[in-house]
Amino acid sequence: MTQHLDVQLSFTINGEPVSIKDFSPAITLLEYLRLSGRAGTKEGCGDGDCGACTVALIGEGADGQPHYQAVNSCLIPLGAVAGRQVLTADGITNCRIPKSPLVKEPVTADQLHPVQAAMVETGSSQCGYCTPGFIMSLFAAYYDGTPDDLSVEGNLCRCTGYIPIRRAARMVADATIQDQFSEQLASASTALLPLAYATQNNGHSERFYRPTQLAEVLDLLQQHPDATLVAGATDLGLEMSWHRQHYPTLISLEAIAELKQIHQTEDFVEIGAAVPLSHIETKLNGIFPNLDEMIHWFAARQVRNRATLGGNIGTASPIGDLPPVLLSLDATLKLAGPEGERTLPLANFFTGYRQTALQPGEVIVAVQIPKALTPGTDRRLSQSYKIGKRGTDDISIVAAAFVVDVDGNNQILHARLGYGGVAATPVRATAVEEFLLGKPWTMETVQAVKLLLQEAFTPLSDLRSSAEYRQRLVVNLFEKFFVEFS
Ligand SMILES: Cc1cc2nc3c(=O)[nH]c(=O)nc-3n(C[C@H](O)[C@H](O)[C@H](O)COP(=O)(O)OP(=O)(O)OC[C@H]3O[C@@H](n4cnc5c(N)ncnc54)[C@H](O)[C@@H]3O)c2cc1C
Ligand code: FES
Ligand code: FES
Repeated sequence: MTQHLDVQLSFTINGEPVSIKDFSPAITLLEYLRLSGRAGTKEGCGDGDCGACTVALIGEGADGQPHYQAVNSCLIPLGAVAGRQVLTADGITNCRIPKSPLVKEPVTADQLHPVQAAMVETGSSQCGYCTPGFIMSLFAAYYDGTPDDLSVEGNLCRCTGYIPIRRAARMVADATIQDQFSEQLASASTALLPLAYATQNNGHSERFYRPTQLAEVLDLLQQHPDATLVAGATDLGLEMSWHRQHYPTLISLEAIAELKQIHQTEDFVEIGAAVPLSHIETKLNGIFPNLDEMIHWFAARQVRNRATLGGNIGTASPIGDLPPVLLSLDATLKLAGPEGERTLPLANFFTGYRQTALQPGEVIVAVQIPKALTPGTDRRLSQSYKIGKRGTDDISIVAAAFVVDVDGNNQILHARLGYGGVAATPVRATAVEEFLLGKPWTMETVQAVKLLLQEAFTPLSDLRSSAEYRQRLVVNLFEKFFVEFS
């Protein structure tokens, strides 16, 4: 990696080139937008929950083509925006063609974008605080042809109510789109160039690297043992947004092609650690049903457009939603470090609360999930469940993922029960798995494992739930699984 350090960060906002220096790469895009007077983008929660700060970035979609992607600007570090095109609600007017059928007044040069016009027409805004965020979520979805409820699942409105907003979405759902933004998209490049940016911030030096090769990441980790890896920044962004955390060196994994591949063989699927969840959602749909289900309930569109599997595992949070699913699927991690590559079953990765078997200088490269069923399997039953305080965009109280292979005589050949939220790490109920082997897949068997399940973990009480409720969920979710798949 070049040792030349850039002193500027360059990107575009609403088509206008911006080059800035002396800005910390770890302030968020939202902070920068507002500090630079672009106050149309609002701050609500500052932690990815409300969607008020939503902007669109041009990025690569699951099909490899450029797409507008709705993202939470309160979570993205400024360094990660380098070389990108950012669009905000105050920059999408002046739509040239077509003249919006929704704007009844004569069309002028500053006409509203069809999405904005639809929001006006349906009375979708009262205090207006959430409105720029809704507009940008709908804007991104408009160019994908999907302005629907799911496209605004990450946007909260406290005063208008959702019915008019849904009407606005429906109004633009069938539009034929040929305008300056579709043209801009067609000619956009999503390639991220390498970056090595350095600045001084309050007497601290800060560096932001965006290498393009895995070997460069490993070199940088040797040169900067205090460095922090950053992928989608949907976890780290909270530290930046809320805790104003200082990061001497950030190494972005976003431009490393090797970490962004999904590779399939007959035997396994390998998912690069830096693949955004929205790509996994699209590309692997139907292959692992319990993964599909959990990703569906994972945060909301804006977060899934950025969050990665490597980040979900790398945080080692006991309430990360995907590790229980990956544990149920017997996933293995591919790791790379100064000593070379190695593989490690995910079941051996989490060593304690927020602690992992990752050695200094190591990176998660990919997650391998076997496709093969246990020999003799007649049916594979698999599902995942997430219990939170609300359906979308919430953190789990308990997450559970199950896989049971049964033969033609309804005997259990293989069982995996992965849980989150019940221990210091994501865990499997191994004693229960062993007990189930050879037993018939019947309610009697499920009743027989209830006590084992109840005693399998000693969860904690916290703000979200009591330990007792969690313990009941451990048992009840498995029973629910049986009822749904018997
Ligand atoms: C509003 C909101 C909703 C959320 N909802 C959910 C949810 O429903 N379920 C859930 O599980 N999580 C949720 N999260 C948490 C977060 O989105 C996930 O943990 C996500 O997968 C993190 O991925 P990332 O790429 O953004 O990680 P980052 O924030 O970039 O990194 C997270 C950590 O992992 C490390 N890391 C990243 N990549 C690697 C790698 N390849 N090798 C080694 N270490 C690595 C980083 O150094 C950092 O310590 C939510 C977050 C927000 C803000
Ligand atoms: S300000 Fe609420 S999601 Fe960013
Ligand atoms: S219009 Fe007030 S929060 Fe949505």
